[in-house]
Amino acid sequence: MIPLRMDAVDLGYDGGPVVRGLDLDVKPGEVLAIAGASGCGKSTVLRALAGLLPPRAGTILADGVPVRGPSPDRALVFQDDALLPWRTARRNVELPLAIRGTSRAERRARADDWLARVGLAGQERRLPGQLSGGMRQRVQLARTLAGSPRVVLMDEPFGALDAQTRAAMQRLLVGVLATTPATVVFVTHDVDEAVLLGDRVAVLAPDGVCELVDVPYPREMGLRDAPEVAAARGRVLSALS
Ligand SMILES: Nc1ncnc2c1ncn2[C@@H]1O[C@H](COP(=O)(O)OP(=O)(O)O)[C@@H](O)[C@H]1O
Ligand SMILES: [Mg+2]
Repeated sequence: MIPLRMDAVDLGYDGGPVVRGLDLDVKPGEVLAIAGASGCGKSTVLRALAGLLPPRAGTILADGVPVRGPSPDRALVFQDDALLPWRTARRNVELPLAIRGTSRAERRARADDWLARVGLAGQERRLPGQLSGGMRQRVQLARTLAGSPRVVLMDEPFGALDAQTRAAMQRLLVGVLATTPATVVFVTHDVDEAVLLGDRVAVLAPDGVCELVDVPYPREMGLRDAPEVAAARGRVLSALS
């Protein structure tokens, strides 16, 4: 079953069309990176996949079923961490579990387990305002994955972080993804990030045409400089220009 499929999809707002005739399949368990210049419609595509923006034409299917609205099976992660500031890290991570009706004791155990997996053991009782930007992004990642979504939609999640924190978050994400079966759509305007994280990179052009580049050795930090990876990076760069 294809987790997500866009078939001849048109997207837009009152101001006009943004994406036209987009065909895109996301394969089970893959990380599909979506790259493209600022304003070309990456967030718009992600919103549509999340069920927050109905297509003007075409169909969007999740596991073969038309997407008609948001679902806990498709979690969105934003650049701004979107944590609830009055809830502790633990209570933020418990949220999707509460929505799924998980018991209080299990909620706490799973939240603490996820916080430990993102390197935040001991920080469970802190409020978001007491955490750094990178730590808040880790809480958001823990919160997202705690709900066991089938699909994770990430919109430039590390875009607001400094270079060092961003590299650390990329490493963390690579480690965490290896332990979950989730299918991921990762939007970034950073070509290196797209090629590091994606099994494939979909390059979205302003006219809505989409070019797909297969990436060898996805998420292999040690092979970032391999010639095959450099060739894939080159293909993404030329599709962008
Ligand atoms: N809520 C909105 N209402 C109207 N126009 C929007 C809205 N969001 C985005 N747009 C427009 O749609 C286009 C694509 O935006 P977006 O999907 O955010 O691009 P990207 O994420 O690739 O930077 C832009 O021209 C932007 O101005
Ligand atoms: Mg965007």
